[in-house]
Amino acid sequence: MRKLLKVTAIVFGVVVLVAASVLAIAWWKTQQALARSYTTADPPLAIAHDAATLARGAHLFATRGCAECHGADGSGKLAFDAGPVIHLVAPNITAGGVVRDMSGDQIAAAIRHGVKADGHPMVFMPVGDYHELSDGDTAALVAYVQSLPTSANDPGPTRIGPLGYVLYLFGRFPLLPAESIDHAPRVRVAPTPAVSAEYGKYLAQACTGCHGADLSGQHVPGTPPSFPDAADLTPTHLGAWTNADFRRVLRTGKRPDGSAVNDFMPWRSVGKLDDVEIDALWAYIHSLPSARKAPTR
Ligand code: HEC
Ligand code: HEC
Repeated sequence: MRKLLKVTAIVFGVVVLVAASVLAIAWWKTQQALARSYTTADPPLAIAHDAATLARGAHLFATRGCAECHGADGSGKLAFDAGPVIHLVAPNITAGGVVRDMSGDQIAAAIRHGVKADGHPMVFMPVGDYHELSDGDTAALVAYVQSLPTSANDPGPTRIGPLGYVLYLFGRFPLLPAESIDHAPRVRVAPTPAVSAEYGKYLAQACTGCHGADLSGQHVPGTPPSFPDAADLTPTHLGAWTNADFRRVLRTGKRPDGSAVNDFMPWRSVGKLDDVEIDALWAYIHSLPSARKAPTR
């Protein structure tokens, strides 16, 4: 009996030691990655503040998820709490917050590269969804951010949890999107807004972070198991839907059978896309190859 206790104690001690070491290594690796420096050098944007540009910027801010995380007024808030993985706070991006001393091009680099003014990578903002935004759309977004009424709100810090460090160590958590982005400087041009698969593809980038690069659905990386999977959007799942069904789910959060879509799907923002944008998305989705795997729903 004494011997068994002794063995149990040793095994337990080894397990604790291994777990503590993995955590320490994961923490250290994350700190190293956070301290890395990135250079971005896109050609400077022409940032105008006329009414048409600001209206375009407001539309992008409301429909591309910015308002979901940073709040409709940009004053910052808790984006989501994934317990031991991450407590993600989107900062105040009005002149009273983090963008106070940033130039327009630095704000653009934050949006399209996930890189802060000091060159360090930003945490978890879904920059992969914004990386290909055109120079015109980015300039409009920047102008709109710069025009937000100043707020003194301090939404508090983001906290990475122990599981967040460990998942990052094993490549299972896209903590720093700047790591998987091509930072080569270039000019980006959007297709002409029209009901075309080409324009739909441009818009659908904003869906890829959650629904996957090929839109075939996935469990959204970094979210707890309790969060629903982002649905398959290829014809495998949406093939029998009509354009009206698609429009309805985005505008009202209701599927053709009347069931409600989980609020983690940001339909309140996505539903603010105009008719041309929704129809272009639909045209693109129809042009996709069917997903090879079984549908998620
Ligand atoms: C999933 C939530 C989320 C979404 C969606 C999101 N952000 Fe962020 N954003 C963040 C977080 C978190 C940070 C802080 C990152 C950090 O400091 O490491 C941030 C930081 C920023 C910053 C400051 C960067 C800096 O240098 O400190 C700007 C500007 C910004 N976001 C603009 C936008 C715009 C514009 C959009 C929409 C196109 C957007 N964000 C969408 C979460 C989000
Ligand atoms: C923040 C993550 C996120 C983003 C961004 C997002 N989605 Fe979703 N979406 C989801 C999740 C999660 C579900 C599944 C919800 C459920 O199971 O109730 C979903 C469901 C859907 C559905 C319903 C399908 C079904 O039968 O359940 C459609 C259609 C859809 N999304 C389209 C889009 C489009 C188009 C975009 C981009 C313009 C987009 N989504 C962006 C997370 C997201």
